[in-house]
Amino acid sequence: MAENFYITTPIYYPSAKPHMGHAYSSIIADFFARVKKIQGSNVFFLTGTDEHGLKIQRAAESKGKDPKVFCDEISVTFRDLSKTLNLSNNDFIRTTESRHFKSVENLWKILEKKNEIYLSKYSGWYSVSDEAFYSEEEIENIDGVKKAKISASDVEWLEEESYFFKLSKWEKPLLKFYDENPEFILPISRKNEVISFVKGGLKDLSVSRKSFSWGIKVPSNSEHVIYVWLDALTNYLSALNYPDISNNLYKKFWPATVHLIGKDILRFHAVYWPAFLLAADIPPPKRVYGHGWILSGEEKMSKSKGNILDPIEIIKKYGLDPLRYYLIKEVSFGNDGNISKEKLENCINSDLANNYGNLCQRVTAFNEKNLNSEVPKNISFSNTDLKILDNFKDNYNNLIEYTNKQDINSYVNYIIERLFASNKYFNDEEPWKKKNDIDRLNTIVYVSLELIRKISILLYPIIPDTSMKVLKVFNINEDKISFESIKNNNFLKKGQKINKINILFKKIEKL
Ligand code: ME8
Ligand code: MG
Repeated sequence: MAENFYITTPIYYPSAKPHMGHAYSSIIADFFARVKKIQGSNVFFLTGTDEHGLKIQRAAESKGKDPKVFCDEISVTFRDLSKTLNLSNNDFIRTTESRHFKSVENLWKILEKKNEIYLSKYSGWYSVSDEAFYSEEEIENIDGVKKAKISASDVEWLEEESYFFKLSKWEKPLLKFYDENPEFILPISRKNEVISFVKGGLKDLSVSRKSFSWGIKVPSNSEHVIYVWLDALTNYLSALNYPDISNNLYKKFWPATVHLIGKDILRFHAVYWPAFLLAADIPPPKRVYGHGWILSGEEKMSKSKGNILDPIEIIKKYGLDPLRYYLIKEVSFGNDGNISKEKLENCINSDLANNYGNLCQRVTAFNEKNLNSEVPKNISFSNTDLKILDNFKDNYNNLIEYTNKQDINSYVNYIIERLFASNKYFNDEEPWKKKNDIDRLNTIVYVSLELIRKISILLYPIIPDTSMKVLKVFNINEDKISFESIKNNNFLKKGQKINKINILFKKIEKL
């Protein structure tokens, strides 16, 4: 039976238009959605926007706009970006949709009924930028301004009546849960961070606000709106038609396989979210992966810092697939990464144009010139041929494991190594000197075409458009791509027409 695979991105705040950090999370999530799909899983891939709370209300006010009108305008730029990035998402959720209200209200009622929520008074620090509460130890004074240490965002003092979730009660069950599910939080370095936070002691969590109105009302008390993080996290359920848990989507896809997020929002996903769910008797997600940040210089790229790089501009200048390839390859996954035009241009010139593009072009051009653009018919593999072809079969299980462990770096490194090996094979075998040994010439071309096919399948989740240009030449349609077929050395039909592949990536002229 095919495995069900549910992957999510964070739902982004539409407080300003998207930047490279958002594009990064979405592209990585798309990589996993696509790779699992060609590996035969049933995939559900969700993204969307997080539209309630004081942060959004204030952003709307600063533009003199009604918050819903404001969100409508910016949410659409996120939706458009998903198309521009060629995301294969199955749904795009907005927390202002009625399906989401239903889901959040239901979760709240369950928590209330189970006695997990009580009314009291909150007094403490709050960061509107992070929509997070901080303890005295978590803030510092910088030039007379109080800031959260973890994010450097301003905090303000808050004192008001509030509902609380009994988070303290879940300290031990959470630690047990982490212990029993050692890969719930990845990468491992982040897991230790979370565990020490929980071991440090959990206080009950304020989960409603009374001093503003932009949010989902507490069902039993319309003076309060539900805390935006409790609201936002529930989106992952809303998209599966929760609270209707007998429907197909929920049955197939909950618990989520991976919540892919940035490390900035790990606490919400790895502590609060499983606690809410355990308290409501809903199984927690299987994994939370907290990736690193795209930096701008030394700092996190963020709207509030104003140091953002616009993904649309980069795509206009260099194209989408180079950007996707670059973000997936150059940022060591899990760690922070700096992005620069110079590194992007090097990636295009060396990996994409010289290594992949050149292999496709020279092999198919040679085939056109010498074999009438047909897949060779008379072939007999030598040991050298078998060795390079079988390498994919021998590494098949590793590649599956890389995808299951979100080890993108190993996956990409394998492709790069295979590209070098394939170019080297074609050079070393010198088919242009084999005009008197036509069987050998045929075999070398056949092997090289198979190598291009296999590598293009591996590249599909990273650069889907370009990879499809190549796979179509081999008569492979997008819905027919099979990861498993990289094990097959005789996939190509003898005599099949293989048109010449033209330039896939233009080299960037360096001055
Ligand atoms: O936190 N580098 O939304 P948000 C890498 N609405 N990734 C980055 C990044 C950077 N410089 N900047 C942003 C929220 N991201 C909440 C989420 S989920 C239930 C609610 C990515 O608009 C990264 O995934 O601030 C980060 O976690 C997310 O965008 C934060 O987006
Ligand atoms: Mg943020």
